[in-house]
Amino acid sequence: MVMVPKIKLTIDGKATEIAKGKTILQAANSIGINIPTLCHDPRLEPFAGCRVCMVEIERGNTNALITSCNTEATDGMTIRTNSEKVLKTRKMVLELILSDHPKDCMTCEKCGSCKLQDLAYEYNVRESRFFEQPDGGVVNDRNPVIQKDTSKCILCGRCVRICAEIQQDYAIDFKNRGFDTETGTPFGKSLLDTTCVLCGQCVSTCPVGSLVEKQAVGKGREWEFKQVKTTCAYCGVGCTMYLNVTGNQVVKVTSKVGTIPNDGNLCIKGRFGYDFIHHPDRLKQPLVKKNGKFEEATWDEALNLIATKFREIKAKHGPEHIGVFSSSRCTNEENYLAMKFTRAVIGTNNVDQCART
Ligand code: SF4
Ligand code: SF4
Ligand code: SF4
Ligand code: FES
Repeated sequence: MVMVPKIKLTIDGKATEIAKGKTILQAANSIGINIPTLCHDPRLEPFAGCRVCMVEIERGNTNALITSCNTEATDGMTIRTNSEKVLKTRKMVLELILSDHPKDCMTCEKCGSCKLQDLAYEYNVRESRFFEQPDGGVVNDRNPVIQKDTSKCILCGRCVRICAEIQQDYAIDFKNRGFDTETGTPFGKSLLDTTCVLCGQCVSTCPVGSLVEKQAVGKGREWEFKQVKTTCAYCGVGCTMYLNVTGNQVVKVTSKVGTIPNDGNLCIKGRFGYDFIHHPDRLKQPLVKKNGKFEEATWDEALNLIATKFREIKAKHGPEHIGVFSSSRCTNEENYLAMKFTRAVIGTNNVDQCART
């Protein structure tokens, strides 16, 4: 086993020891000290674009302000995350960000789950001292799943980086300069006309209301949704996801960084392919064929019929004439049950699953 050397440092008066190679942000988080971030997503390489994670490194009389998300912690460092200088600088950074941001939180989809709104509240930033020029707005395009509001973009680059680093799609990038800077596609094309695969990873990482799930717009506030943890059934990866439910309707699907096996990432099917849940054509009752025609039946009726048929086959031909195929789209638990049912109930080892090969 490779031993990673340790370093000692002091953060806000607390002495700590961490593995060499960690950032100041990671070191602080490891001892329960919270440093605000906007452009940071633990799934991505550090970017240091927003500057709100600023901390102060004590160096005699020449203390330095430095971004904690991309600076490696070194042995002997003394760091202050909440000095007057740090708090003042963070407030100024937030004012600068808000100089190019509309103040319409009341109607914004992200209200209540917006990292910028939370920080503006925490740092009491009501107005910006700087020249303000919020511009842009909701992009009117035919994209069925992603809504973009260019006026809300804080240029944290998380969408650009997740598209490149995780999805490896490179569909979007920064463009223009100054107040006109925004993220988007080449020549302002719709994402539908680019290499974009509509995975929605960019939506998942956007810390503000610039990128949101279009199907969920106007369906409710984040705190009104009940989050139901489940496993995506579209493929054998079995990503952990959360159904955001209100009034018995699934309004969007999200995931969380740190969950296994997908670390908050989802593909187009898991994230956006949930409309079948409430589709009127969806089978909700079992169908049993009677006189050559399928008719709705109760679960008891259908299960009794299946059990009777299994018993008949087993009695007449023996259990070896029954085989069970399960699917990698099922959860491990469901596949285990299929195996147990085949071996313990039917009495045969004729059980297989597509992911075995
Ligand atoms: S993105 Fe955040 S700060 Fe901006 S309007 Fe929406 S809720 Fe408010
Ligand atoms: S939906 Fe996926 S592929 Fe398309 S821009 Fe966003 S991250 Fe990139
Ligand atoms: S769209 Fe969102 S994630 Fe992308 S740069 Fe703007 S604020 Fe950041
Ligand atoms: S979180 Fe460090 S600069 Fe944005």
